[in-house]
Amino acid sequence: MPLLALETSCDETSAAVVDQGRVLAHLVSSQVQLHAEYGGVVPELAAREHLRHLLPVTRLALQKAGVDPEQLDAVAATRGPGLPSALMTGLKAAQAAAFALRRPFLGIHHHEAHLYSPWINGPPPKADFSRFQPNISLIVSGGHTLLVHVCSELNHHLIGSTVDDAAGECFDKTGKLMGLPYPAGPEIDRLAQDGNPKAFVFPRPMIDEPNDDFSFSGLKTSVRYFLRDHPKLLQDTQCLRDLCASIQAAIVDVLVTKTLRAARRLCVGCITVSGGVASNRALRQRLGAACERQRFALMLADKAFCTDNAAMIGILAERKLRLHSEPTPLDADILPSWALE
Ligand code: KG4
Ligand code: ZN
Repeated sequence: MPLLALETSCDETSAAVVDQGRVLAHLVSSQVQLHAEYGGVVPELAAREHLRHLLPVTRLALQKAGVDPEQLDAVAATRGPGLPSALMTGLKAAQAAAFALRRPFLGIHHHEAHLYSPWINGPPPKADFSRFQPNISLIVSGGHTLLVHVCSELNHHLIGSTVDDAAGECFDKTGKLMGLPYPAGPEIDRLAQDGNPKAFVFPRPMIDEPNDDFSFSGLKTSVRYFLRDHPKLLQDTQCLRDLCASIQAAIVDVLVTKTLRAARRLCVGCITVSGGVASNRALRQRLGAACERQRFALMLADKAFCTDNAAMIGILAERKLRLHSEPTPLDADILPSWALE
C-alpha cells in the first residue's frame, strides 16, 4: 500500500512514493542555484519556489511510481523544524491531499527522518532496523550537527548538538572567506582531494571536552584571522587546495572523534550518518577507517539521500503507521522550532 511523502523544510522541493520500505519514486527540485546569488537561503524565495514546483514534482513522482492518487494508503509531510513559510507549503498540500483522498496524514520530524535515511535502498528494512540498533547517529547538515542515541526503532534521545555554527555552516562560511561560491561544502571537498590536510593547523573546538556537543564558530574565526595574516595565500592554487584540506581535516576530526567516543561510552555496535555533510568524502573515509579499527558497523546514507529528501520522510511515516502511531490531525500546524528530544 503506497504512501506519498512531501518535504519542503528548506530549499529542496521533494516528493516520494514509498511502499513497504521500498522507494518507488523519489524526486528533488533543488533551489541551490537560486539562493547561491544571495550567499544563503532566502526564506521568502524558497516558499515561492516550493509553490511553483510542488505540484509538478508530486505529479511526476506518482507517475514514475505508477501509482494513482486514489491508490495511496496515506500521505505524509515534514512538519518541522525548518523555515516556516517553506514548511507550510508542503504540510498544507499534504493535508489537503489526505483530506480529499480520505486517508491518514502524518506530520514528520525532519531530523527523526534523517535518522532513517541510511536504510533507504539498503537491504530489507525490517531485518536491518533491529540488527543495527542500538546505534549512535550523527546528523550533519547546513543547519544542524546532532548526535542521537537510537535505542530501538522510534525510540531515541538527543545527546549532543552544536552550541553555535553547524558543521555545514562552517564549510560554507570558511568557503566564503576563501571566495568560494555558496554552498562551499562540495567545493571544499573537491579542492581538498589534491590538498595536504597537514599543511596548516586549525583548532579542533571542543574535541577533548567530556560531552557530546560541538562548536565550529571558533574554527571559522581562526580561518578568518589566518587569511587576514596571509593575504597572498589564496592566489596560489595549491595553497588554496591545502587550505581546504586543512579546514576539512579539522571539521572531520572533531565529528569522527566525538561520534566514536559517544559510541564507545554508550556501548552501541553501530554508527549511522546522514545530512548534507555526510556526502563529504573525507568524512566518509575517516569514519569508515575508524569504525573498522574499532569494530563498529557503519551505515552511511547514500549520497542521493544525504541532502533533504522526501524518501526519508516517507520511510519513517510508513514505519510509524506500521507501529500504530496516531495520525496527525488535518488542521495541525507547522512546528518550525520542533526540537528532537
Ligand atoms: O542537509 P542539507 O542539504 O541541507 C540542510 O542544511 O538542511 O545540507 C547542506 C549542507 C551545506 O552546508 C553544504 O555545504 C553541505 O551540506 N555539504 C557538504 C558537502 N555536500 C554538501 N559539506 C562538505 N562536503 C560535501 N561534499
Ligand atoms: Zn535536513
